[in-house]
Amino acid sequence: MKINFVDIYKQHQALKTQIDGAIFRVIKNSTFIGGEEVEMFEREFANYCGVKNCVVVNSGTDALRIICYVLGIGPGDEVIIPVNTFIATALAVSSVGARPVFVDCRESDYTIDPTEIEKKITLRTKAIIPIHLFGQPANMFSVCDIARKKGLLIIEDACQAHGAKFKGTRVGGFGHAAAFSFYPSKNLGAYGDGGAIVTNDTHLANKLRLYREYGQGKKNIFTTQGVNSRLDGIQAAILRVKLPHLDEWNRQRLEIARWYRQLLMDFDIILPTIPEDRDHVFHLFVIRTNHRDRLKLFLEKRGVSCGIHYPIPIHQQPVYQHFGHTIGDFKVAEKVAEQMLSLPMFPELTREAVDYIAIQIKDFFSKL
Ligand SMILES: Cc1ncc(COP(=O)(O)O)c(C=O)c1O
Repeated sequence: MKINFVDIYKQHQALKTQIDGAIFRVIKNSTFIGGEEVEMFEREFANYCGVKNCVVVNSGTDALRIICYVLGIGPGDEVIIPVNTFIATALAVSSVGARPVFVDCRESDYTIDPTEIEKKITLRTKAIIPIHLFGQPANMFSVCDIARKKGLLIIEDACQAHGAKFKGTRVGGFGHAAAFSFYPSKNLGAYGDGGAIVTNDTHLANKLRLYREYGQGKKNIFTTQGVNSRLDGIQAAILRVKLPHLDEWNRQRLEIARWYRQLLMDFDIILPTIPEDRDHVFHLFVIRTNHRDRLKLFLEKRGVSCGIHYPIPIHQQPVYQHFGHTIGDFKVAEKVAEQMLSLPMFPELTREAVDYIAIQIKDFFSKL
């Protein structure tokens, strides 16, 4: 059996007719940049997230970078982020000239450890970026509490968590602004790069709109520093077809996670938890084992593609060597980076495929 890590084409086949129609609509109306599809998607995604505004941009990285810039974060400022994330979160901060200040994660769910945040706050700290990693919301009550007490901004990195909920509320509205990615393999993925910023602050949303489009207020009047960071009409039209299916896809991911948990319970593996107070949307299904590299190789030989998210914590990346961190600075992140393995996870993954993966894992451990 051959099992892909993700299978976007399967999803496409189910929606082919509507997607063809959506693409054709954009071509027929020549609304390649901006236009009705983009505006409608912004409204629909804001509604979905339960926030007032959505401003679409070119990628999740741009969403984070633009939020930082427009919130006035820059040289001399510090922004607290968890050290185990995709590099884009840190790059967004350093790209505006601010310093990403790293915090360890919790071993139980890999999200930012709130007990470590206060230790890192200085007079220069401007914001905290909690990350809803692998589809699991960070502990937003604790993060919001600290931010309120210390007068800090909160920027949610929700790039892996479309539709996830913390205590019944969807991620995206807890902070001043939140960033989403529509990278094709995300829970809500475009057919190319794409991203969105959501915020309840309409004044901020207006500034974000201005900035993403050359700083152009009225036609040919450029009132402020800006960039070109847009989601094109075809991507917006495709995302509009997909958005109504997102909750069902997330439900299927949860079901698959339950199958995995049932089948893998008896092995020397740490499984992701499904906490009561959060709706985890399982962007990734990440297990941990001390035999990670051997297991990955074994599964790949048996036709099962796996991933590692992420093999090197950010403080050990060459790009941030100048911060002078050493091994041992973030013990939990360093430990789990050596153990984590992402198993195939996408809504169309069948029970038969999950059974097959579990049998291979059982076989691996029986041969150890
Ligand atoms: C946690 C996190 N933040 C930011 C990003 C950046 O998103 P994009 O790839 O759309 O730039 C990603 C994408 O993989 C991500 O997983």
